[in-house]
Amino acid sequence: MQSLKQRRALVTGASAGIGAAVARRLAREGALVTLVARRKEKLELVARDCPGSECVVLDVCDAPAVDRELGKREFDVVINNAGLAIGVERLPHGDPEEWSRVVDVNVKGVLNVFHATLGAMVKRARGDAVLLGSVAGRQVYPGGTVYCATKHATRAI
Ligand SMILES: NC(=O)c1ccc[n+]([C@@H]2O[C@H](COP(=O)([O-])OP(=O)(O)OC[C@H]3O[C@@H](n4cnc5c(N)ncnc54)[C@H](OP(=O)(O)O)[C@@H]3O)[C@@H](O)[C@H]2O)c1
Repeated sequence: MQSLKQRRALVTGASAGIGAAVARRLAREGALVTLVARRKEKLELVARDCPGSECVVLDVCDAPAVDRELGKREFDVVINNAGLAIGVERLPHGDPEEWSRVVDVNVKGVLNVFHATLGAMVKRARGDAVLLGSVAGRQVYPGGTVYCATKHATRAI
């Protein structure tokens, strides 16, 4: 495996869960990590464990802000991780507002982040892009309608 030392890595959804763990691990390997999420305090807590990191407080659904903030940076590694799973009701009982949030973050947010970052990688013909999928992108289960749909979309992307 190539060394990650001094590599510039982006992790979205770095304020919690898998994203925070990946950010810490990348930093341990020597990468310089850009941590993205909406909750500043949580991001800063993770940043303490990641020497050389920076925090960017950003909603991945805000396409112009994502382009503005991430488009001006160059990354060797992009971990497109921010996502959520809310709403476990069967379709007739679900909440369309919750569905919108899940689709916005898990599908449009992921597209926004790649839109802002992949161009520079392609230009340099170098870089690694990782998109967090799920078994929900391969299977479906009762109550998982919308989340599974977004993770099937993730797989397509
Ligand atoms: N946990 C699992 O068992 C599991 C299994 C398969 C796949 N996954 C996938 O792995 C990824 C991470 O899951 P997780 O369990 O670690 O989730 P989590 O603990 O709920 O963390 C989600 C992260 O995404 C960020 N986020 C959410 N909405 C955002 C937005 N609009 N803009 C920017 N950041 C946003 C949150 O930060 P803020 O709230 O601070 O913005 C947080 O850092 C997701 O894509 C999920 O679908 C998880």
